[in-house]
Amino acid sequence: MSQNYGKKSKRADNYQLGSYTSVSEILFQNATLLVTSDSGVILKRGIDEKMAKYEITVNAEKKIVEANPDMPLLWVLRDKLKLTGTKYGCGIAQCGACTVHVEGVPVRSCMLPISAVSGSVTTIEGLANGGNLHPLQTAWIDHDVPQCGYCQSGQIMSAAALLENNRAPTDNDIDEALAGNYCRCGTYIRIRAAVHSAALYYRADEQTDTHVIDTKNGGAS
Ligand code: FES
Ligand code: FES
Repeated sequence: MSQNYGKKSKRADNYQLGSYTSVSEILFQNATLLVTSDSGVILKRGIDEKMAKYEITVNAEKKIVEANPDMPLLWVLRDKLKLTGTKYGCGIAQCGACTVHVEGVPVRSCMLPISAVSGSVTTIEGLANGGNLHPLQTAWIDHDVPQCGYCQSGQIMSAAALLENNRAPTDNDIDEALAGNYCRCGTYIRIRAAVHSAALYYRADEQTDTHVIDTKNGGAS
């Protein structure tokens, strides 16, 4: 069975299942819809009839996807568009692993239905400019930030949104902007250092129009 997009409780009357008062509707990625009793017995199996086509712009490319309106953007990105850099952590907008940008604003894609996406989406795959890494990606490498790496694309996307609006963030600014991004490996100190380095890069770039900078040692070379 393919990815389960979650359960919804429904009145059994909707399915003419008179001996039950409520049932669960479970939607799978392959558009199979199961109706189960509270104890998990499958009462009905069918095809999701709400599938619709959506045109979305992802990383500056227009894409057409067919999906249930309730399918979270995260699963559209990962399962339909094969952009697996965005990660699934909690599924309830608590950990930040699934962070992407919609019109430049960081959002939790695990809780954003495809039908509610309005604006162009940028994922970690779209952050680099062609073959040139984003300054944050360079700084992340220079500071050896990741450990297991699972949370890191979400951390970088939140940091990228911060730097777009604030070229000289303080430690507090960084901690606040990334407060919703959890790292089980505890890389917070290195994340902070890398964000400062990338900010320095932006400031140097804006002042001198040069891209040559030693991000690890925190100064231009
Ligand atoms: S997976 Fe979206 S916030 Fe955790
Ligand atoms: S690097 Fe492992 S969870 Fe953050």
